[in-house]
Amino acid sequence: MFLYVLGPVAIWFLYRWYKESKRVPNKGEKYVYITGCDTGFGNLLARHLDQLGFRVIAGCYTEKGEDELKKTTSNRLMSVHVDVSDSESVKQAAASIKDLVGEKGLWGVVNNAGVALPSGPNDWFTIEDYKPMLAINLCGVIDVTLSVLPLIKMTRGRVVNVASVFGRISPFGGPYCISKYGVESFNDSLRINMAPFGIKVACIEPGFFKTNVTDMGMLKNNVKKLWDRLPQNVKDDYGLDFYERSMSEVDYKFKKLTDGNLMKVVGCMEHAISAVHPRSRYSPGWDAKLLWLPLSYLPTSVVDTFFLLTGAQTQSI
Ligand SMILES: NC(=O)c1ccc[n+]([C@@H]2O[C@H](COP(=O)([O-])OP(=O)(O)OC[C@H]3O[C@@H](n4cnc5c(N)ncnc54)[C@H](OP(=O)(O)O)[C@@H]3O)[C@@H](O)[C@H]2O)c1
Repeated sequence: MFLYVLGPVAIWFLYRWYKESKRVPNKGEKYVYITGCDTGFGNLLARHLDQLGFRVIAGCYTEKGEDELKKTTSNRLMSVHVDVSDSESVKQAAASIKDLVGEKGLWGVVNNAGVALPSGPNDWFTIEDYKPMLAINLCGVIDVTLSVLPLIKMTRGRVVNVASVFGRISPFGGPYCISKYGVESFNDSLRINMAPFGIKVACIEPGFFKTNVTDMGMLKNNVKKLWDRLPQNVKDDYGLDFYERSMSEVDYKFKKLTDGNLMKVVGCMEHAISAVHPRSRYSPGWDAKLLWLPLSYLPTSVVDTFFLLTGAQTQSI
């Protein structure tokens, strides 16, 4: 009886592995535009796709990032300066890309650029604090995608959006989770809209990985800066103890949970770009698979109790 169940499961996994192992041909003729290539996942993905033979167009935020990246890549890799929160900059980058790719079109765009700070309890912010991050993490994703979609239609290529497990579950306040929920929503509607054009749209939902967005120094600095500027009445509501616990939570959670193997995420991004049959969603990281995603399917009351008992309310990201 056990074998009757195990057999079909094993065959299904084997079939899935075979199907997912097939890669697209002619990488050397395929242009892939990646945003946020200065550091982190974007930087590693640019180098990885370059090594695999793709024609990478690395969107960099700073000149320094652009220069450093070019030192470690082939001369196939091109770079464009792009601030994804500035529509003019996005338009200019798209115009350069159009000139570069010509009739070949663009094979893929990876919307990777993003920031994670400021984060903290919602009543530590004003509406103005939400806008800059939403402009980068959400409007930037939409703007960049729309700016190159006609070029991707030419190749029936790929759109890859980097969300987060915090696009599925929202344990802390501030604009980060809101921006990532927005990315998930844009991703899902775009996937359906683009299916008739043969374009495949994939979403990457990483757990915690060691990059600048999870840098403990920056996270602690964020908590301190937000706390220092709070009006006295809000400080009194929360109490000094809350502030101190928030600081030690950063140490505890980020030392334990962050994974240093960025290739787990970059491997998923590469699969979304180069597999003949990419997945619609990728959730790299054990914390994503074993904690955040299962939690996101549980009833709200269970999730809230879990977060309140484990001190998520003191979590600043
Ligand atoms: N690390 C994690 O645990 C984790 C988990 C889930 C999701 N993510 C997501 O993964 C993506 C990449 O982040 P990362 O972890 O690799 O961190 P990262 O190293 O900070 O990478 C983010 C990149 O975006 C760039 N950037 C910031 N503002 C920009 C703007 N306005 N226009 C264009 N580029 C801009 C940054 O440039 P500068 O370095 O010059 O500022 C940086 O190169 C983000 O969308 C993040 O939300 C990360």
